Amino acid sequence: MRKIWFVTAAIFVVVMGGVASAEDVGDPAAVKSEDGKYLDRDGNPTFKVASDGTVDWYTYSGYRRYHSECHVCHGPDGMGSTYAPALKDSLKTMSYPDFMGVVASGRKNVSTSQENVMPAFGDNPNVACYMDDLYVYLRARANDAVGRVRPAKHEDKSDTYGKAEDACMGNKN
Ligand code: HEC
Repeated sequence: MRKIWFVTAAIFVVVMGGVASAEDVGDPAAVKSEDGKYLDRDGNPTFKVASDGTVDWYTYSGYRRYHSECHVCHGPDGMGSTYAPALKDSLKTMSYPDFMGVVASGRKNVSTSQENVMPAFGDNPNVACYMDDLYVYLRARANDAVGRVRPAKHEDKSDTYGKAEDACMGNKN
């Protein structure tokens, strides 16, 4: 299952990499929703924050995943650290396929005297099953749609999301 996901992601990156460029992150406005997953006009996952501050499920879930898997290096709330870049800034210019590629396959900075390593998470279900959640949360941070706080109110997890999550994590119901 995990291997299949990784291969799928790699193909996706190769296919999409050709058409999406770094300066082409697109308008983050949500134009449609599929069972609680919001998409922008290019069909990429995006956030949705209601006027009362209620965030979509992906933003909330991404917030939680980020703070369990990524904040040690990238700092709380995507603010960055001396070791790793501020993802709230990276996502201003980084496309969805580029994000998926770096998180799945990792990256090693060899240009500085210090060797800073972004680990590959393609085989880690706690990350691989939540790629879109992480992307959506960080995209919301990059667009100042959510601040440096735990989102107080969020939409419910949809049945579709729950089933996909269980399948990806290998849970039996
Ligand atoms: C062990 C430390 C570490 C952890 C944990 C980590 N990263 Fe990284 N990450 C790095 C470093 C270091 C870089 C910069 C690598 C380079 O310069 O090539 C990086 C780079 C990135 C980039 C590219 C940013 C840019 O501006 O080009 C993305 C996206 C990213 N990480 C996402 C994540 C996500 C999402 C998580 C959690 C699932 C995560 N990282 C967890 C260390 C880490």
